[in-house]
Amino acid sequence: MRHALRRISIELLAFFACVFASVPSAAQAVSFSREVAPILALNCHACHGANPESVAGGLSTRTWRDLKKGSNLGRVIVPGNPSRSPLYQFVSGARGEATQMPLGGPPLTLEQTETIRKWILDGAAEDADTSPIYRIGLPSVRLERPTPVRFAARIPVTAYVELELVDSRGRSLYREGGAVKKAREPAGIGVIGEWIVWNLRRGSDWPEHLRALLTVRYAAPEPENAVLVVGAGEPQFYEGESEIQIVAMSGNRTVAKLRGTPSLDHWKRELTPGWYTMHSKDNRGNEGAVLFRAGTSR
Ligand code: HEC
Repeated sequence: MRHALRRISIELLAFFACVFASVPSAAQAVSFSREVAPILALNCHACHGANPESVAGGLSTRTWRDLKKGSNLGRVIVPGNPSRSPLYQFVSGARGEATQMPLGGPPLTLEQTETIRKWILDGAAEDADTSPIYRIGLPSVRLERPTPVRFAARIPVTAYVELELVDSRGRSLYREGGAVKKAREPAGIGVIGEWIVWNLRRGSDWPEHLRALLTVRYAAPEPENAVLVVGAGEPQFYEGESEIQIVAMSGNRTVAKLRGTPSLDHWKRELTPGWYTMHSKDNRGNEGAVLFRAGTSR
């Protein structure tokens, strides 16, 4: 009898343990990197951090540190107190419709302002960014004066893209970000958005050769056969025969080296599913790169 009772209480305990274990996950804290940062990137960076000069009101929303620095008004976040936090006041409309953020655009959805409110209420903490980030780098981009250089990113539906140009010593000369939202559907590619930095002219103190880094983050889950293609460099620069290298993103393995004309379609069929970059170099030393995903769908 005693024995049976003990068994029951142990089972009960196990049951309670399960209940308690599930409580924290139901009221899980809002994650800055997974939930708040994408809202800011896609709706606010355009005027608050897309490049070092775009800091309307003295505010950059680009990183958690930037938010902590505040704006011309002072701090924009009062941890634990959304209604006293300008960040929340301006997106919720509490500061008046005329200055509701994003300025001049459709307001955030109720779900988005709630996410920001809860995050501030929870203490506005930073957390490790575990969202997928795709990066491609071009070791050498030649900026020929006065030819404008064009960087293009073709991305499935929604993402935030950032281009950075650095010199050989790693000095950042240029940084520009942009949200990709509009979907288009050109034949054969699937649903994509496009982001282009147009007419980038070489600064007077820039060297002729630069490294270009493209970062793509907060990409919405792609439709099954969509391809993420990020290109950098100017296609018209490619002259003569190109040397092409295909590198698997996982493990950074070079899976193919060839000479000829780049054809993504061919490689999308040949490769095992996964992410790859394709680098090309022509016989004048111009380089280009795209990031793409080889999928199972043909
Ligand atoms: C189209 C440009 C634009 C967009 C997009 C935009 N803002 Fe603003 N924002 C402004 C301007 C302009 C000001 C006012 C600057 C001033 O009056 O000094 C401002 C001011 C602010 C301020 C007050 C800072 C201060 O000291 O004046 C906050 C907070 C703010 N924005 C947050 C946001 C958030 C969050 C988003 C995205 C949901 C956003 N903004 C999107 C242009 C924009």
